[in-house]
Amino acid sequence: MLKPAVRPERPYFSSGPCAKPPGWNPNKLDTRVLGRSHRSGLGKERLKLAIDLMREMLGLPDSHRIGIVPGSDTGAFEMAMWSMLGERPVTALAWESFGEGWVTDAVKQLRLDPTVIRADYGELPDLAQLDWTSDVLFTWNGTTSGVRVPDADWIPASRGGLSFADATSAVFAYYIDWSKVDVATFSWQKALGGEGGHGVLVLGPRGVERLENFTPDRPLPKIFRLTSNGKLIESIFTGETINTPSMLAVEDAIFALKWARSVGGLKGMIARTEANAMALDRIVADRNWLDYLAEDPASRSNTSVCLTVAGADAAMIKRLAKLLEDEDVAYDIAGYRDAPPGLRIWCGATVDAADIEALGPWLDWAWEQQAK
Ligand SMILES: Cc1ncc(COP(=O)(O)O)c(C=O)c1O
Repeated sequence: MLKPAVRPERPYFSSGPCAKPPGWNPNKLDTRVLGRSHRSGLGKERLKLAIDLMREMLGLPDSHRIGIVPGSDTGAFEMAMWSMLGERPVTALAWESFGEGWVTDAVKQLRLDPTVIRADYGELPDLAQLDWTSDVLFTWNGTTSGVRVPDADWIPASRGGLSFADATSAVFAYYIDWSKVDVATFSWQKALGGEGGHGVLVLGPRGVERLENFTPDRPLPKIFRLTSNGKLIESIFTGETINTPSMLAVEDAIFALKWARSVGGLKGMIARTEANAMALDRIVADRNWLDYLAEDPASRSNTSVCLTVAGADAAMIKRLAKLLEDEDVAYDIAGYRDAPPGLRIWCGATVDAADIEALGPWLDWAWEQQAK
């Protein structure tokens, strides 16, 4: 088989950090704040702008606060776990590696003796069986298995415990019913195509109530502290970060958010994501050696799409991914190291559908090459 004639224009299909927004170029970033204090008037203005744009692009209701915190998504989620859990029993859900990471935190580090509900890679646990008098931790979109929750209907409007969503590869790609979310976290490095390093923490009113009325019996490092004298530190949610942020990463996020606005905001971002997932779906449908790891289309991710490859083992996947990387056709599409061997192709909004379409013939080519 000859090499296909058309290459994806941008071979960036990594599931994090993800492709930069189309047209991104470092020279387009506003650098006025670099070399300046993040607490200067300009610094605070830019941080506030990032926050305001996120609020607008997410369609976040006024009831929810949003702030920039240290440590990427992990930092944001662990900050919430460490500062809010322990008031009541905890249920931790896991259906892939990142959810499993939060289980480890809850069991081994925080020693909360949580109820752990698991499902295998490719599946969701039974979400109807949860005890909502407990706090519930879950991953909205499991980036390493390509399984997401289909919606938030399984979260009761009236619940005793709090819902904690690791939503890092879900936000800007799905509609999120924020009334069902008490705590959510994400990082700019996923659907926005921004940088890692900073996390974003979204707090609903019940999350704030927990922070102000419950003091956990454990030491909290300064970078986890969200309250002072029993009150939420409101300034974190207007741009006064706990410690020094990378203003370059902030400017990069502002660029991405303005791009998101230019493609129609949340609605446009979701439409682009769906078009990408549909383009990949046509490729999968046409090939009997490719299939989804997530069997149920209702809970199949539109962002981190995980594919099985007939007869694949880790070595074969490595060969396939290397062939495509060496051709500058597709970077970073081998599945996650802890997941069953397969391919993972990011379909978030910063990827162009034409580039996904161009992948099809190249996948055939690599499939044939590796079999030689
Ligand atoms: C679902 C999920 N949670 C957490 C993380 C960790 O994110 P970060 O490296 O930004 O802290 C990732 C990263 O891929 C993820 O996909």
